[in-house]
Amino acid sequence: MARGFQVRATSVTIFAHLLFIAIATLVLVWLLHFREGVAFFSSSNPVKIFNLHPLLMVIGFILVGGEAIMIYKSVPEKRRSVKVVHLLLHLIALVAGIIGIIAVFKSKKEAGLADMYTLHSWLGMSAISLFGLQKCLLELPFCHGTGLWAWPYSSLQLPQLRRVWLNISSFYSFSALKRH
Ligand code: HEM
Repeated sequence: MARGFQVRATSVTIFAHLLFIAIATLVLVWLLHFREGVAFFSSSNPVKIFNLHPLLMVIGFILVGGEAIMIYKSVPEKRRSVKVVHLLLHLIALVAGIIGIIAVFKSKKEAGLADMYTLHSWLGMSAISLFGLQKCLLELPFCHGTGLWAWPYSSLQLPQLRRVWLNISSFYSFSALKRH
């Protein structure tokens, strides 16, 4: 039940999924219909290689990454299996982001342009590096309960350390929807 300024997570989640579909559709129509499509190995056309960048950054990195955060609300499943899906979606987002950045470097190289001269490129590089760091340092260590991962300091069983790490991770992920 919504109380005061509180908003029901279900309605926010439904709204976020509608946005997901709208954004993904617009990006696909823009890239495939109004631009020249996408390709990774098309050395004759750097535009097609560049197009992979917005595609993977928006749909892969941002939308799939967002889905990973919302999964705790959108799938009413047992905690362990949701955690595995959460981890996998985040890994897909990270891999998509890395390939998206490789694509923009490749397209600029083939077009003979310099790298890293805009605020966008530095902010983007910082964002994806911090995201990767967060996955490796803050999240994977706590996935040992899923059976997927065994990490030295998760096996230390230090509750205080785990709590501090978990708080940083939740804060860092903007994941108010996340239940650990
Ligand atoms: C989270 C999302 C994104 C991240 C992390 C990101 C990251 C980056 C990085 C690191 C570069 C530098 C590549 C280089 O210097 O060779 C870059 C370049 C570029 N990106 Fe993105 N990007 C994102 C989303 C987007 C989107 C959605 C678009 C377009 C719709 C876009 C358009 C461009 C353009 C035009 C360049 C080349 C010019 C420049 O270096 O600023 N990016 N991006």
